[in-house]
Amino acid sequence: MMASRLPTMFRKNGLPAAAAAFAAASAASASVTLLDEEDVVHAPHYPWRHQGYFSSFDHAALRRGYQVYREVCASCHSLHYIRFRELVGVTHTKEEVKQMAMDVDVLDGPNDQGEMFERPGKPYDVIPSPYPNKEAGRAANGGAYPPDLSLMVKARHNGADYVFALLTGYCDPPAGKEMMPGLHYNPYFPGGAISMPPPLNDGGVEYEDGTEATISQQARDIAQFLSWTAEPESEERKKNACKYMVVLAFMALSVGYYKRWKWAPLKTRQIAYVKGVGGAPH
Ligand code: HEC
Repeated sequence: MMASRLPTMFRKNGLPAAAAAFAAASAASASVTLLDEEDVVHAPHYPWRHQGYFSSFDHAALRRGYQVYREVCASCHSLHYIRFRELVGVTHTKEEVKQMAMDVDVLDGPNDQGEMFERPGKPYDVIPSPYPNKEAGRAANGGAYPPDLSLMVKARHNGADYVFALLTGYCDPPAGKEMMPGLHYNPYFPGGAISMPPPLNDGGVEYEDGTEATISQQARDIAQFLSWTAEPESEERKKNACKYMVVLAFMALSVGYYKRWKWAPLKTRQIAYVKGVGGAPH
């Protein structure tokens, strides 16, 4: 409403009234935002190594991150947009990936009798959900479905920061905040009450490279792994961008040179009108 009144006020009372109206409008929207934001703390920004224009992922961290996913998160969350084979050369070798896929049961079928059956996974399978359907997932988690994590980092504002903050942010609710049974206080989750119990524990996994598995180390590793799952193409894209930029720079130089070369005779000529020279016009 403020916005629709603004032009009239501007015309009638000139600039000061318009400025006042603008200040009032922005104060109103600020208070609305404050109300929305009261229940959530924004994740601080962390210096992720992979976020530079020329930087790649920390692959040791990705490997540890997959381990955290498999041993902790996979009991509730799927990674439906990632196939096992995509991990080859990123976190694991081909043989390891084959083995990892085989350790997971995958639903396949129907067979000749029209029945679905389970078989050991193959590298071309997607990383499956632990639940046969959403309803089962909800039933097992107090009504909240554990969302697929493949694109989570893209689906949330500053995703990697958010995942890290969420996983390390569990704490006691402030005095006066009533928690419903089955909900856990986490100031980074909008509303502050999340159905996911704190998933990480100190030493909850045992890293094969000897890294100490503190909660923040595991959160850091899984946040990076989920950044990769959200953008598995990012390293390739950055590499290609470097090539394209070099080619584009050469093209810009040669186009610039060509332009100057074409225009040189026109730009450097001098046109002089001299009376009485050249005779009468045709
Ligand atoms: C016991 C089951 C369980 C485990 C284990 C678990 N989660 Fe969750 N997770 C949930 C549930 C349930 C939700 C939905 C929460 C809600 O909507 O209140 C959720 C939600 C999330 C969300 C989305 C929050 C949002 O903004 O919507 C992220 C991110 C997440 N989990 C990450 C993880 C990671 C990473 C791990 C492994 C370290 C993990 N979870 C382990 C049950 C689990």
